Amino acid sequence: MNLLKSRNDWDVINKSLENNQITIVDNFFTQATLFTLKNRMLYESKFHDYYGEKRYQAINYFPNEDPITDLIVKNLKQKIKTLPQFKRGWSFIYENESNGVKLHADPSIINLNIWVSDDDISTDPKLNGLIIYETFPPSDWERKDWNGNHKKVKKYLEDKKIEPLKVYYKNNRAILFNGMYLHRSDKIAVKKQLNNRRISYTLLFGSTEE
Ligand SMILES: [Fe+2]
Repeated sequence: MNLLKSRNDWDVINKSLENNQITIVDNFFTQATLFTLKNRMLYESKFHDYYGEKRYQAINYFPNEDPITDLIVKNLKQKIKTLPQFKRGWSFIYENESNGVKLHADPSIINLNIWVSDDDISTDPKLNGLIIYETFPPSDWERKDWNGNHKKVKKYLEDKKIEPLKVYYKNNRAILFNGMYLHRSDKIAVKKQLNNRRISYTLLFGSTEE
């Protein structure tokens, strides 16, 4: 069963990842995969993590726990031969007006982030994207700094005058990047109804902590 849309540019994607580049791939999942990943979050009532007012809620997925995630990983491994081991994943559903995920890095070699919510949810097409800085945290920082102290990360990036890559929000747009690159959500603003909520699905491959 193929949950990824069939495509003929896997060679280009593989080469880009081998060069440690931020790799953007549109039309990534099949419509059936998107439908499932979107709607199970939209109609979920109990989440694993609640990130508070004007933020988001999360469901976590670990290997051999979530059949659709395991199938996606299997499909991906067939196409990306160098893909490190799948470690964990999550899906976030954001409040209609949300500050999103604050500046941080993840302890992974490759992150796959994809938006499974619809294209026409945004109140402003320039919002709702992902901001990625092609830079790692200083080597003497601890996890609590790069994964838990967004103010420290912000000051570091401002002091270094590092400009980010802004990836615009788009349904079914996958972004594959080194998880240790510092990143955050852009400001989130979508139309009011429940079906317009921004929903992301993320998989982490490989670990920098082993
Ligand atoms: Fe992240």
